[in-house]
Amino acid sequence: MRAAFRFLVPLLVLLALVAYAASELMIRQAHRWAERDLSARSRLVLASAREGLSGRLAAGDRVRTRQILDEMVRDERLLGARVCGPGAEPPLRTAAFPPELACDRLPLRAPGATHDAVVGLPGGTVHLSVLPIGADDGEVLGDLVLVHDMSYLDRRAAETRKTTFVAFALVGLLAAASTLLASRFSWLSWTAELRRLLAAPFHSLGGAAPAASRTFQPVLADVRELVSRLASEEVSGGGGRWSAERLRNVLRTRLHGEGVVVVANREPYIHERAADGSVRVVYPASGLVTALEPVMRACSGTWVAHGSGSADRDTVDAHDRVRVPPGEESYALRRVWLSEQEERGYYYGFSNEGLWPLCHVAHTRPEFRAADWEQYRRVNARFAAVVAEEAPGPDAVILVQDYHFALLPRMLRQRLPRATILAFWHIPWPNAERFGICPWERELLDGLLGSSIVGFHTQAHCNNFLESVDRFLESRIDRERQAVVMGGRETLVRPYPISIEWPARWLAGLPSAERCRADYRRELGLPADALLGVGVDRLDYTKGIVERLQAVERLLDRFPEFRGRFFFAQLASPSRTLIETYRRLNDEVERVAASINARFGNGGPGPILLMRRHHEPPDIFRAYRAADVCYVSSLHDGMNLVAKEFVSARDDLRGVLVLSRFTGAARELAEALVVNPYDLEEASSALAAALSMAPEEQEQRMRALRGMVAEFNVYRWAGRILLDATRLRQRERLSVRLSDAWRSGEPGRGGDSGPPDEDVHR
Ligand code: F6P
Repeated sequence: MRAAFRFLVPLLVLLALVAYAASELMIRQAHRWAERDLSARSRLVLASAREGLSGRLAAGDRVRTRQILDEMVRDERLLGARVCGPGAEPPLRTAAFPPELACDRLPLRAPGATHDAVVGLPGGTVHLSVLPIGADDGEVLGDLVLVHDMSYLDRRAAETRKTTFVAFALVGLLAAASTLLASRFSWLSWTAELRRLLAAPFHSLGGAAPAASRTFQPVLADVRELVSRLASEEVSGGGGRWSAERLRNVLRTRLHGEGVVVVANREPYIHERAADGSVRVVYPASGLVTALEPVMRACSGTWVAHGSGSADRDTVDAHDRVRVPPGEESYALRRVWLSEQEERGYYYGFSNEGLWPLCHVAHTRPEFRAADWEQYRRVNARFAAVVAEEAPGPDAVILVQDYHFALLPRMLRQRLPRATILAFWHIPWPNAERFGICPWERELLDGLLGSSIVGFHTQAHCNNFLESVDRFLESRIDRERQAVVMGGRETLVRPYPISIEWPARWLAGLPSAERCRADYRRELGLPADALLGVGVDRLDYTKGIVERLQAVERLLDRFPEFRGRFFFAQLASPSRTLIETYRRLNDEVERVAASINARFGNGGPGPILLMRRHHEPPDIFRAYRAADVCYVSSLHDGMNLVAKEFVSARDDLRGVLVLSRFTGAARELAEALVVNPYDLEEASSALAAALSMAPEEQEQRMRALRGMVAEFNVYRWAGRILLDATRLRQRERLSVRLSDAWRSGEPGRGGDSGPPDEDVHR
């Protein structure tokens, strides 16, 4: 856009100059024509009156000569006429003849010679013709002076100038508008293209889809898939936007109000004892908690998790339960205590040094140790016992969360054969070849297949999972229904892209975005007009924090206009600090930030504001609202809810999201500037584009992003899983009744061999 202005200003100046020159040329030409015309008229006037005039003049008849002169000036343009010469004294002239043009002051070339001139008088410009009046014998009796009014030409000149300027101004405006539109379209061409592509599922575009522009391009196929799913859900009687209320309704009507049990390693509320002995509640930095907590508020039930806070034991009842959220208790948190050895092996070891790097393509080698595996199995079994205790009945609905509990669904199935077990894997699932690195790949797959449904964020992860099952287990894969049939049970494999609550509850107590913007800059010691970027993460190598800081450095290298004006606030909460890789990352981030600050600090604090500590949600939302740009640069991420939270925080429709294409979120948030975080040229260009983006374009993009996140909120995520679970339950119950009928030999059902396995769960 700035480039467009750089081009427009000289264009407009040039147009003004051309307009001026053109109008002057036209006026001069009109003058020339008018002079020629008036000279010819003067000669005509004289020719028609010569005889009478010369006769009267020769006869010295002043009265009649004056009458002839008066007749001449009836022509409306003739201002006056006079005769100069021997017989014309005292002056012989018409009444309106300009007194300034006395005979002795006329610009005569030579007496008796014809002469034309244009003379400026106080009353306006006049055209003067001096024409000799000859007698029949050739003697010159005097000069006839005819004065034509030319002031109309001045008026015409003024009009010509005005018209030319208006015409050129219109041309200029048109040129400006088309240049701005062209530049705008070059920014938004991909959006238009996307909309065209998105239209495909509805309008059944024939042939190949047009190639999309490569500029910060979203993952079109996934966005299209998402929108077509939304459309088909609406066609099949969606019932409007999903909300806590609608989710509660599903539970009440479809699952008969059965409480839900969620199992996750991380608890939604951690009680920590402060140095002064008081107890405070901490909200963990966890995408899983961000997503699941609002669902539990809506559904009630029980959340089973590792009790990791220093005051957790002091705040539970005799059954290790505490009602949460504090102050507005709506569900139970059941804490499971782990020994240090268990936590090291199950959480730090197998989960976070083994499975975490195995599932993320972020170039950290997975570590698999038999001792860690042992603890992993042991902790899964301990959780299975607790969950079975917490289950409200044999038909309980149990939501098993994440890679910490791959073995849990099978263990629960053994304890609760009729339960609806839904496992959701919050991180990517690698391809089969990579997954095969894990020495216990079969056990993990078999454990997950104890579920009724296994969910992932994306179809690609579902495909990888099915491919792994196909490679490592004896089972039947129904590709059409995306299901695995094993040991007489069916497990559906489905994509459910997770999301956040809408509207975000943290916004309720916050000041306006404008206020946050001003306050946050003041608190950071930045100028009020500073441009601010923000990043919010756990300090994890999958988040691409080093690459993000390097992109900022590259931005300042390539675009010096941002030096001293742009600052990047990195909110980083320390995570998994017992693991060496995480400690090294911490040092690396600090080193890179310090080196950038030394390069660009100019004696001051520098552009990177690294804030390594735990940040509570209201602080994070304030940062989102204060920022001009939020950069999510994950090298690989199942979904990434920071991207969605940033969007939910911007009810002012400002701010730009720059988003890594390696996040699940990039498949939904098409109006973000989607980049490859490894490509520092692309990432720094996107940051520059974001920082220079016109407010109208920010608004347009943010409105679309907000529409998407509002629609695909976490209530929809939970609702879809639960609705799929209900359908599955109905089918399962029906098939149980049918197989009972087979066994009891109901009429028409001859024989006692039941229906084949694969039919049981159809
Ligand atoms: O993103 C994967 C994940 O397990 C989330 O599900 C969770 O929010 C996050 O990592 C936090 O990790 P941890 O609980 O180990 O701090």
